[in-house]
Amino acid sequence: MGVEICVEGLTKSFGHQVIWRDVSLTLPAGEISVMLGPSGTGKSVFLKTLVGLLKPDRGSITIAGRDITRLREHDLYEVRKLFGVLFQDGALFGSMDLYDNIAFPLREHTRKPESEIRRIVLEKMDMVGLIGAERKLPGEISGGMRKRAGLARALVLDPEIILFDEPDSGLDPVRVAYLNQLIVDLNAQINATFLIVTHDIASARQVPDNIGLLFRRELVMFGPRQVLLDSDEPVVGQFLNGRMQGPIGMAEEKDAAQVEQELAELGAGHRRGPQGGKGATGAGVTPRLLPSPGIVRPPRWQDIADRESGPRAREGADL
Ligand SMILES: Nc1ncnc2c1ncn2[C@@H]1O[C@H](COP(=O)(O)OP(=O)(O)O)[C@@H](O)[C@H]1O
Ligand SMILES: [Mg+2]
Repeated sequence: MGVEICVEGLTKSFGHQVIWRDVSLTLPAGEISVMLGPSGTGKSVFLKTLVGLLKPDRGSITIAGRDITRLREHDLYEVRKLFGVLFQDGALFGSMDLYDNIAFPLREHTRKPESEIRRIVLEKMDMVGLIGAERKLPGEISGGMRKRAGLARALVLDPEIILFDEPDSGLDPVRVAYLNQLIVDLNAQINATFLIVTHDIASARQVPDNIGLLFRRELVMFGPRQVLLDSDEPVVGQFLNGRMQGPIGMAEEKDAAQVEQELAELGAGHRRGPQGGKGATGAGVTPRLLPSPGIVRPPRWQDIADRESGPRAREGADL
């Protein structure tokens, strides 16, 4: 069913370099959350800290009632089994075919017989649309297929939590759209807690229940998708709209006077803008991505479908 992750007052630095400080948020069980932020703001460091690969300086990460920042290596090993992680490049072994790559965690962490392993591997390959590619090497397939193979591998131990590090990086927009649909479909099927780190604004607007934004060593905001899409907070507005005007600069942070001027211009222009409505982002125009029609929607997704598109969305839900 997925588990809740509660992060409180988390701070991480390397030497004198503070990556982020005092990060507090709760990833609700079974929901999809997205973490946005410019490059180098420590999104990957955040994911690695959640799985216990990096130790924070301060703060707590509570999962299933235990603060994992205080666990010994042996107990941490057990907690890590709750996680599936899709690393940025898929992190596949180049000399192993897809079947062996995906079977790897099962052979490493369980004593299941090969017949059982085969059943699980083929089931997960089917879920991500890779049936027939079992004997391909990672170097022989497209970037999109590599991501899906990495995802199948992240699924084999039936994780309660899945972390995705820029699943859309390096993919063309059509592949990103397919991947987003796959993520939503998987969430409806396995009901784990998802955290997706991404740069892709379209994905961030359509896919999650919750959005967070890391900027200038802080979590600027974390909350329900609609709240951030409607937010007047300048950094949130700039990022969710991919604008040049705002506090986020090309290389470094901009000076305050320039930001103020840009925001004033933007404010004047925006009121005349086509989207109108509340906040700076026109949230009403971005519908939530729903599970594919063939997927039986658990109650959580049925509620979302009803809210998004009215009771008619029920049609086809039980195909
Ligand atoms: N193991 C490490 N040791 C020292 N510095 C690190 C380490 N990992 C990441 N960093 C630094 O932390 C910062 C954030 O990195 P990262 O989390 O990869 O950013 P993002 O994923 O948001 O692009 C960078 O300045 C990076 O150089
Ligand atoms: Mg990263």
